[in-house]
Amino acid sequence: MAANKKMLMLPGDGIGPEVMHEVRRVIDWMARRRAVSFDISEDLVGGAAMDVKGTPITDKTIADAAAADAVLFGSVGGPQWDKLGFDNRPEIAILRLRKELGLFANLRPAVVFDPLINASTLRPDVVQGLDIMIVRETVGGVYFGEPRGIETLANGEQKGFNTDVYTTSEIERVGRVAFELARKRGNKLCSVEKANVMECGLLWRQVMTKLGEREFPDVQLSHMYADNCAMQLVRNPRQFDVIVTGNLFGDLLSDLASMLTGSLGMLPSATLGAPDATGKRHALYEPIHGSAPDIAGKGIANPLAQILSFAMLLRYSFELNEDADLIERACSNVLASGLRTADIMAEGCARVGTHVMGEAVIRELDKQAA
Ligand code: IPM
Ligand code: MG
Repeated sequence: MAANKKMLMLPGDGIGPEVMHEVRRVIDWMARRRAVSFDISEDLVGGAAMDVKGTPITDKTIADAAAADAVLFGSVGGPQWDKLGFDNRPEIAILRLRKELGLFANLRPAVVFDPLINASTLRPDVVQGLDIMIVRETVGGVYFGEPRGIETLANGEQKGFNTDVYTTSEIERVGRVAFELARKRGNKLCSVEKANVMECGLLWRQVMTKLGEREFPDVQLSHMYADNCAMQLVRNPRQFDVIVTGNLFGDLLSDLASMLTGSLGMLPSATLGAPDATGKRHALYEPIHGSAPDIAGKGIANPLAQILSFAMLLRYSFELNEDADLIERACSNVLASGLRTADIMAEGCARVGTHVMGEAVIRELDKQAA
């Protein structure tokens, strides 16, 4: 196995550092048992960086992230930083990383782990076997569109405004990622916008249609309005294979989809840039859950989403599919054995904290490698 893969770890705020600590143990195990090793550096982001460096992310950290082969991100934010000016909010760290590294395709899987079937708020027969991939555009749309701002009008009133904007090439590049993923899965892609009320959505639909006809005629493409998609995700989520959508709708729909699975604490995500001439692409991996300030420091957070984010990193940045499989299986076996953190606790299961959960994953890895 090749050594000297460069990984930058950015634990961030809240439960970020606690769950990242458990990932460290998985990384050590991989180095020891599978000869998969990394040059690891670690840095502050979010509120933690704000407190120490006076900014949610320094230019140096951005440059280090760009130089790394992959970034493993924790989560940012917390009530103590809520009153900061817009530009100093902890969330700026992830937004700048996405924008400045060109990380335009955010892959958010929503998979139901069989042992967790009863943790979903939906009936088991609706969610059993669920396996959706949401591809969310992350460097465009209303998150970054200009003009934006808060202005004072002549009558003294204030006006807040943002702009939703997508160009043909921005739609095509994220569309291609989604089509290609669909090809490797169930060959079905649903493109989501509001073409009925927004020009930006209308263009999205036209561009996706042409792209499908031109480059992916073998993939079954459908279109859906975002509000209907939200409804369909709750009504009959298994109708979906891959969903592709813009930044804001993707933010909403991926939270919705993740909750179908019973726990936000279980789901990883990958955000990918465009491949360069050698096929290498910038990539950042992070759990879908946030910094959960209410439970931070208590040792009860679920480390599995962060661990599974590392598995995704092995798979998408290094094609270490076997090693990723190993970790995913270990997590699934730990759940099957009845261990649960508080967020996924169920009757008859054993409630454990962050560290014991991490330890159980290591024990499972040992078993599989034996
Ligand atoms: C997400 C988060 C971010 C977003 C925040 C932290 C800026 O909600 O990754 O889904 O809105 O994109
Ligand atoms: Mg979100």
